[in-house]
Amino acid sequence: MALKDRIEDSRSAGEKASAGGVALWRQRLLEEINLDELADLDLAQRRARLEKVAGHIVSREGPVLSASERGALVRRVVDEALGLGVLEPLLADPSVTEIMVNGPDDVYVERAGRLQRIETTFANEDQLLQTIDRIVAQVNRRVDESSPMVDARLPTGERVNVIIPPLSLVGPVLTIRRFPRAYTIEELVEAGSMDPHSAVLLASFIRARMNIVVSGGTGTGKTTMLNALSAFVPNGERIVTIEDSAELQLAQEHIIRLESRPPNIEGKGQVTVRDLVRNSLRMRPDRIIVGEVRGPETLDMLQAMNTGHEGSMVTVHSNSADDAIYRLQTMASMSDVRLPFETVRDQINSAVDVVVHLGRGSDGSRRVWEIAAVASRRRETFRLQSVMRFVPEPIGPDRVLRGAYHHHPVPRVLAARLFEAGESIPPAFGVGDDESLLREIT
Ligand SMILES: Nc1ncnc2c1ncn2[C@@H]1O[C@H](COP(=O)(O)OP(=O)(O)O)[C@@H](O)[C@H]1O
Ligand SMILES: [Mg+2]
Repeated sequence: MALKDRIEDSRSAGEKASAGGVALWRQRLLEEINLDELADLDLAQRRARLEKVAGHIVSREGPVLSASERGALVRRVVDEALGLGVLEPLLADPSVTEIMVNGPDDVYVERAGRLQRIETTFANEDQLLQTIDRIVAQVNRRVDESSPMVDARLPTGERVNVIIPPLSLVGPVLTIRRFPRAYTIEELVEAGSMDPHSAVLLASFIRARMNIVVSGGTGTGKTTMLNALSAFVPNGERIVTIEDSAELQLAQEHIIRLESRPPNIEGKGQVTVRDLVRNSLRMRPDRIIVGEVRGPETLDMLQAMNTGHEGSMVTVHSNSADDAIYRLQTMASMSDVRLPFETVRDQINSAVDVVVHLGRGSDGSRRVWEIAAVASRRRETFRLQSVMRFVPEPIGPDRVLRGAYHHHPVPRVLAARLFEAGESIPPAFGVGDDESLLREIT
């Protein structure tokens, strides 16, 4: 078989099927219908309502059909629309970022960072399993006793995880993570996730080819930030992105997107983020963007940042900017290349220019909590100098977290590089080495 055919062949059947006409009408239907109104109806009423609206749409916009052809098409469209049962309106609701089904009677969603329990539930375990089947069938997977766990990405971008009994003791558990929507920096500023001065400064960091680490806990918005920041990479540079599950949506012309691959059932065929980082070095990238470093690829990434790929970016899971540096060190030491402790420190001091730390407030709000410059050089003990810090106010009765963004001078070494690159520094920050803002990480 020719290479092209083999690649075609390995594409999921679901991807091909979803291109069909029914999917299109289903989309139109979901656009037209008021989902809130549907939520209050039982299944039969919902079907009747959907058939009526679908009928109108098909008559208005569809081809000329006989009455029976039209009836069949409408039924198929509605079947598709109802195919995911109670999940359908949730999936169609853009404010829902995560859907969690813990057995048939327990459905939660995440909206604006908060968990909410949903009234609608599945009729029984069978109905839930049927829905799960429909979802994973889209990507040619199945769930049963012999493979009771499935983790997959749907053609529409959602990340789906399924785990069923006997591994789960609460019935079949389904977790759907929506494909995160891309925010621009302006939108993040608008949403209060960072202040405008910091946005301007970060943009100049990117243009001046600083290596940036975005840090934060799960779901704090690391990928979202990485995506927003990447918009400042000048068009015309060759960017390679490497992710475990492709979420970045870069707008530049010259992008190569790579995605790692887990091992198959026989435990073969795995391609790790590390493999991809190493391979990317032979692809003449100007910048490398790694969705998240979790292990030994960290060392490869640091080396890439130190050898002609300045302006690269990664995210790392951590609780603070200090912790991010500490974790980079731990992960870089996990490499099979055993490097002396001081050498790893040298790599990090030389590679990382700036840490952007994100956090989630008790009210669910996501924001930049700190921007810190790496002030240590070579083999010195790590030192960070805070450039921006969010200082929260005590939370009031409305449970909304407020606070102020405090700005501090940009260290001279960093400032010099910015000026060299033709960038300026917003007056809110200024330039200077302030001992009182320096902290050692030991
Ligand atoms: N500043 C923000 N304001 C509101 N929602 C955000 C913000 N940043 C991210 N999100 C949302 O939070 C969820 C998790 O974001 P993501 O970037 O995937 O986090 P992480 O990569 O840290 O796990 C997504 O649904 C995303 O759209
Ligand atoms: Mg992420």
